[in-house]
Amino acid sequence: MTSIELMMEEHVNIVRMLQVVRIACTRFMNENEIEYDDFSKMVDFIKNYADLHHHGKEEKFLFKEMQEQLGQMGTNLVKHGMLVEHDWGRLFVSELLAAIESYKAGNSEAKLDIIANAVGYTNHLQRHIIKEDAVVYVFAGQKLPEETLKRVNDLTDVFEAEARQNGIQDKYSKMLIELEEKYKDMDES
Ligand SMILES: [Fe+2]
Ligand SMILES: [Fe+2]
Repeated sequence: MTSIELMMEEHVNIVRMLQVVRIACTRFMNENEIEYDDFSKMVDFIKNYADLHHHGKEEKFLFKEMQEQLGQMGTNLVKHGMLVEHDWGRLFVSELLAAIESYKAGNSEAKLDIIANAVGYTNHLQRHIIKEDAVVYVFAGQKLPEETLKRVNDLTDVFEAEARQNGIQDKYSKMLIELEEKYKDMDES
């Protein structure tokens, strides 16, 4: 499997978690009760799988090569596009964490900020992923030299093997299945 194919598979996992977050927010909105442990798990997945593990590979390998080798177009797409959006996602998450703490401390109005930032993050990341799948990865696959793509694949293989030793893929795949089981669409009926 190439690095791009692997990262597109990760996108599918991330989008599944975005749906979980949305349903958890709907439940919180309707029932006025928040499951702190589940929100902690969602944030853990977002920070360590979607950001550190997935965006980490993009930033260190594929996007780095695109910036170095694909001229102004590569720089525009990556630096002024994707990297800005990664940072924007991180802002949503830090605001979400602050809102959760505030709600825990008794500020009932922070419910609004929990839902706004969590749902804002899901919409933002969904759009980001669609852009990568349809434009950025396609452009990289077509324009980067063969030997560069091979280097990206090799670096990805090493990164994945190290992560596997630390149980990352396994941990977050189990967490996704567990939360999906709990947060199904039945709420929306
Ligand atoms: Fe990205
Ligand atoms: Fe991505």
